[in-house]
Amino acid sequence: MTDRYAVFGFPIGHSLSPIIHRQFADQTGQQLSYEAQEVKPDVFNEALADFFKAGGKGVNCTVPLKELAYEAVDQLTQRAKFSGAVNTIKRLDDGSLLGDNTDGIGLLTDLCTNLGVEIDDQRVLVLGAGGASRGILGPLLEAKPRQLYLANRTVSKAKAMEVLFSSLGRIQSSSYEDLAGKQFDLIINATSASLSGSLPEIANGLLSPNGVCYDLAYSEQPTAFVCWGMQEGARLSVDGRGMLVEQAAHAFHLWRGVMPETSAVLKGLK
Ligand code: ATR
Repeated sequence: MTDRYAVFGFPIGHSLSPIIHRQFADQTGQQLSYEAQEVKPDVFNEALADFFKAGGKGVNCTVPLKELAYEAVDQLTQRAKFSGAVNTIKRLDDGSLLGDNTDGIGLLTDLCTNLGVEIDDQRVLVLGAGGASRGILGPLLEAKPRQLYLANRTVSKAKAMEVLFSSLGRIQSSSYEDLAGKQFDLIINATSASLSGSLPEIANGLLSPNGVCYDLAYSEQPTAFVCWGMQEGARLSVDGRGMLVEQAAHAFHLWRGVMPETSAVLKGLK
């Protein structure tokens, strides 16, 4: 029987994950199916139980289900624990469910391996203190930036995140206004502002000459933040398509034990 996988989310219509995993499976000669399922939060637990009862092997969860997935699994990887969210669920041989979060490692792989961006000893700014931000702060701190600032419209949320992650490395929370006069080599947009075509209220001049801008969101047209980066003279201002492919590759690896090659898939999406 073909091993079954799926991505759950709401909405899910435009998900690129089925295409990505199809290509990974073809490339590595793995027999599997991967479908997109629209699942609303109120029926998530039921949908998950049904999928695994029917023999499913693994599920990816996307917006707005990652926190629910965190609650639903039996075991968590260390990185999922820190991120408070699960994007990849694997059914283990004993039937229990393992929850992982491959978003952070996906971002780091895209930044460092695909784009050649250094993080070690760099000044890094993360915008936003929601779920997306929480998924990437651990791996970012592990990459040893000289400074890691976390700025958010609601400062109390950034402060709470600072407390949570300070055991992993030095992180400073801030309002957008208090960033004035500072400069960063890498600015990452982890707010959901791009999804509504808007931009956090950040001052001009925050990006160092030759700096890099990275938006975790992606869309057909350049996002408002990617455009802002270009206007600010970024050496590189990109959206999160690379992260999407790399988080998928790490999920595929967790499920199948083989790491797919991502460059051709990424090229196809761009
Ligand atoms: P996600 O899981 O996508 O991170 P979330 O947990 O709802 O979603 O968090 C959304 C983040 O985007 C928050 O940091 C939010 O700022 P607040 O905490 O102040 O609400 C941020 N955000 C959304 N729209 C924004 C906007 N127009 N300007 C600035 N920040 C915005």
